[in-house]
Amino acid sequence: MHRAALGAGALSDEWARERLPMHGARADFLFLVAREAGELVGFGYGYTGAYGQWWTERVALSLTAEQRAEWLDPPHYEVVELHVRPSRQRSGIGSRLLAQLLTRQPHDRALLSTQRGSRKARAFYAKNGWTELAEVDFGTGYPPYVALGKRLVSDT
Ligand SMILES: CC(C)(COP(=O)(O)OP(=O)(O)OC[C@H]1O[C@@H](n2cnc3c(N)ncnc32)[C@H](O)[C@@H]1OP(=O)(O)O)[C@@H](O)C(=O)NCCC(=O)NCCS
Repeated sequence: MHRAALGAGALSDEWARERLPMHGARADFLFLVAREAGELVGFGYGYTGAYGQWWTERVALSLTAEQRAEWLDPPHYEVVELHVRPSRQRSGIGSRLLAQLLTRQPHDRALLSTQRGSRKARAFYAKNGWTELAEVDFGTGYPPYVALGKRLVSDT
């Protein structure tokens, strides 16, 4: 699913072998799957982000002091992966997975990054109310990314 959604160049094996087990140990880790007729058609997951983590530190370097104060310093949720099987894309599955993740996490703001060159993902996050904050350089071997944030309405 990871490779099907992201393409052959995706670091799917590394992600499954090393990153996912590490991510699974983080605070408020939540992994949701979408199924249709018993078949996996999408998944998404996240956790509470924190300074000291690779992603947070890279994003921090790309944000202004004001943006860090607004988005990274307060407790925030990080949406790490969100993928829908290509044959089932554009039918609302990604939006529903994302909404469920955000409903079930504890913070009032969320962050993520997506490839700058993915018009599809950037259109998807814009439609779902996310704001692009800055371009992010994750280092050698990574394409350019953009970091996005979303303020979440509290029930209280
Ligand atoms: C991005 C992704 C998760 C969206 O999931 P999805 O189930 O297709 O999205 P939804 O059906 O809920 O939302 C549809 C909206 O997304 C955007 N979108 C989805 N596919 C698109 C495409 N091929 N071209 C342009 N916009 C697209 C549009 O805004 C679309 O709304 P519209 O149909 O009214 O124009 C999915 O396309 C995917 O898995 N892509 C590959 C992996 C990826 O980029 N993941 C995100 C990285 S963090």
